[in-house]
Amino acid sequence: MPVAMKFAVLTIFPEMVAPFAAHGIVRRAVESGRVSISVVDIREFAAGRHRVTDDRPYGGGCGMVMKPEPLAAAVRAARRQMPEALTVHLTPQGRPFDQDLARQLAREKGLVLVCGRYEGVDERICQDFVDAEISIGDYVLTGGELAAMVVMDAVIRLIPGTLGHEDSAEQDSFCDGLLEHGHYTRPSRFEGHGVPEVLLSGNHAEIRRWRQETALIRTFLKRPDLLAQRPLSDAETAILKRWCRDIERLLQRQAEHRADASPGDQQEG
Ligand code: ADE
Repeated sequence: MPVAMKFAVLTIFPEMVAPFAAHGIVRRAVESGRVSISVVDIREFAAGRHRVTDDRPYGGGCGMVMKPEPLAAAVRAARRQMPEALTVHLTPQGRPFDQDLARQLAREKGLVLVCGRYEGVDERICQDFVDAEISIGDYVLTGGELAAMVVMDAVIRLIPGTLGHEDSAEQDSFCDGLLEHGHYTRPSRFEGHGVPEVLLSGNHAEIRRWRQETALIRTFLKRPDLLAQRPLSDAETAILKRWCRDIERLLQRQAEHRADASPGDQQEG
């Protein structure tokens, strides 16, 4: 089988990244030949007996900066092996990584992932050797390696054939802009809690409807920001309107109960 996607991870800590390919779905993807992952030690491209990869910043200040020469040589070597690959620098200054970007990257032939350490990499590398910068969130890690593994993990599972069920990725959270519905497995009672009846009913149309509805409501409750940016289908609009009506009815009934319980208050008010 031709390799669908090649990754090269450029790092001064190759031993941190190597085990990533040894487990679960990623391992299967590599073993099946769909994915190749090479971990490149930037130090091997550094000059001198000590193979130094960092230096003090021009202009002073704290921390060290990754020297440009070893990085440039490592990127060039990786690109020679993977001429069609996109070179990505993992940095908190990059484009926020999300499922859309993962889908976009999954269409690439290869990714050269440049992992910075210390205060960062020399700016001339960012300008001349990098096609894209990606951040995995608004926090600062000690290096880009974890970010590179996050990106690879999210991308690899989108490559056709890497997941057990071909349709699993299609039902993911975020796939159609919603969080995924809840999941249940045996036993049907666990520490006093059951499973929604409909999931035991065997009625697949009803199960589909329940999943669609709970995905929508769950997204509204947990991540309303996702819904705000996404057009609703007619079916989804109908679900939300029904919930609105149910909530209004409930509030109405509560108000009536209150009025029944304290008629005096009403007269005074
Ligand atoms: N390197 C350090 N912090 C990072 C982040 N949040 N995302 C990507 N790379 C990083």
